[in-house]
Amino acid sequence: MYYFSRAVNSVHSEDIKRLMRQASGPDLISFAGGMPNNDLFPIRQIDAIYDGLSESIKKSCFQYGPTSGHPTLLASVRQRLLNKGLPDEGNRLLITTGSLQAISIITQEFINEGDVVLTENPCFVGALSVFETYGAEVHGIPIDENGIQIDRLKTKIDALNKKPKFLYLTPNFHNPAGITYSLERRRELLEFLDGQDIIVLEDDAYSDLFFDPEHEKLVKPLKAHTGYDVDIIYTGSFSKILGPGFRLGFMYASPEVSEKAETVKQALDACTSNFMQILASEFSHEEYLDPYLAFLRNEYRERKSILQKAMNEFMPDGVKWTEPLGGFYFWLRFPEGFSSTELFENCRERGVVFVTGRTFDPHNERDNCLRLAFSNMPRKHIEPGIRILAEEIRKLL
Ligand SMILES: Cc1ncc(COP(=O)(O)O)c(C=O)c1O
Repeated sequence: MYYFSRAVNSVHSEDIKRLMRQASGPDLISFAGGMPNNDLFPIRQIDAIYDGLSESIKKSCFQYGPTSGHPTLLASVRQRLLNKGLPDEGNRLLITTGSLQAISIITQEFINEGDVVLTENPCFVGALSVFETYGAEVHGIPIDENGIQIDRLKTKIDALNKKPKFLYLTPNFHNPAGITYSLERRRELLEFLDGQDIIVLEDDAYSDLFFDPEHEKLVKPLKAHTGYDVDIIYTGSFSKILGPGFRLGFMYASPEVSEKAETVKQALDACTSNFMQILASEFSHEEYLDPYLAFLRNEYRERKSILQKAMNEFMPDGVKWTEPLGGFYFWLRFPEGFSSTELFENCRERGVVFVTGRTFDPHNERDNCLRLAFSNMPRKHIEPGIRILAEEIRKLL
């Protein structure tokens, strides 16, 4: 008999384990895994970068490094953040082992058992599992195609008998909802939060993956909108632009928050892999990254368009979605009472999988929606997969 801690009882952690098991299989058409495409990784470039390193840098690849991050990677990430319009002054950067570690560190910094965290509904399930693991009381606020619904946010804050510790948001190419906050909603949100003393945790894992260069201006982070009295902790990741195997992310926050974060990180893993940080910083420095990003945007845009076309052709009336402007996901919405869990079972028998709506609901209830990821999927599987999905949806509508 084991007396496990409460931390191991996260419902959403179980969902993630199931999701990872179901996401792949030799004969499956999988719209499940929200991962980058295996065939697009920059293998040759990384080979060339490693071969070109001096012996002394190769040695430091194998060594421990500073907890805050390797200086060359810190410098190149900082420059990229400044290019996105983030403020230079009053913030420090910390490299983390994936951005999920940044979310986890921030949660450990702020959350005691029973503290309130506000999220969007639907919400990235990895973050939900972190909040649950550390004992937060999570409240989801509905989003629409322009972002979080501010009236619902206000009603929730008014109804709570304690102040939320933070509000977790993913304004760009939302996982799972595929939406991007409109400029107007960003402004309204910041106006609403101005002076309220509620920290925002802004998760920006996908903003480099816009499909149309015209849309780059739409993804300006909340933290880059200055002039508001809103404390924003910004997180980003290399997972979607270089590969999750690198396990590289970062957080950019006030010196106080960063200093405490460093203390938490020190106890977690002392430092993020020097090996990966050096390769990633060379990849950024050597001007590999920008051409590679242009290549990725093209590849993902093409997959998105194939999926969009197949859905226009095959989906029955009653199924709704918002066409994503970037990222990896389509979020399908169905009438009340529809069960994506039932649909999942029927589709799986025919070799097609996706992620059910309930997985992304902080309250594990709303199931009349589902997520399709088009990122890690051969183009030729998209249309046959959507045909089967549409046939099975028709039977349940
Ligand atoms: C919205 C969002 N944030 C954070 C992450 C975590 O990324 P990583 O820990 O690999 O940087 C993901 C991964 O799917 C994500 O979708």
